[in-house]
Amino acid sequence: MKIIQSVSEMQSFANSLKKQGKTIAFVPTMGYLHEGHLSLVEIAQKNADFVVVSIFVNPTQFGPNEDFEKYPRNFEGDVALLEQTKAILFVPENTEIYLLEHLTFVEVNSLENLLCGKSRKSHFKGVTTIIAKLFNIVKPDFAVFGQKDAQQVLIIKKMVEDLNFDVKIIVGKIIREKDGLAMSSRNKYLNEQERKDASVLFESLKIAKKMVEKGEKNPALVIEKMEKLIQTKLTAKIDYVEIVNTKNLQQVKILEGEFLIALAVKIGQTRLIDNLLVGEN
Ligand code: PAF
Repeated sequence: MKIIQSVSEMQSFANSLKKQGKTIAFVPTMGYLHEGHLSLVEIAQKNADFVVVSIFVNPTQFGPNEDFEKYPRNFEGDVALLEQTKAILFVPENTEIYLLEHLTFVEVNSLENLLCGKSRKSHFKGVTTIIAKLFNIVKPDFAVFGQKDAQQVLIIKKMVEDLNFDVKIIVGKIIREKDGLAMSSRNKYLNEQERKDASVLFESLKIAKKMVEKGEKNPALVIEKMEKLIQTKLTAKIDYVEIVNTKNLQQVKILEGEFLIALAVKIGQTRLIDNLLVGEN
């Protein structure tokens, strides 16, 4: 498997592929890969001649009291998983990505302060900055992101539109464990009881879906039902449960057309997110 560590080598490799008329699909990750990531790699493989997967635990998207230091890392496991694919792995050094005098950041105003942005100040500024940088290094024609991070997807699409990045964003569906828990590298933090309780996130989304299917139009009633269910789990502490417009992430007043039901819940010390897109065309 080809592993590239330096920025200049990645750029020259991308340039040489471009010269040969080859296309590149890119899957940015923070490592500790699971089936969710592999599903994105599969999508990437279907769309382009070459696939680049990056592994970089991006410090600028973690707040001061968040889990940057203890974020799970397993480079050998990641390589073993990717070995089954034909992906090229890009694993840059932090010191090369963020020079000591790094001064430039990319921000997508307003969208970044809603939902997860309310409790994770400057998280999305870190995400858009690293993604802009990685796009300039990997030079992809396509980039694939998971729908689990629905707000991230929307913000990156907006950045691509506003800054004219020549990259097509593709979104992969949420991959779930047997009990419905959305796959996430952070699931590793959960102890046995917390892991059991964590299935309540998806349970609450299923209840919401049923209510909507039965004709419920009032978002407050759906949210109340979801919150009540989540609160039955002793380890769960709700950060937010919201039903929002899929374009601007503003709360909707009536449940019709397309909308996103999104939630963030702390299970023990682990903050998990999940969502359901309703009425998607
Ligand atoms: O979704 C993630 O893993 C990260 O936010 C990303 C997109 C790789 C940027 O660091």
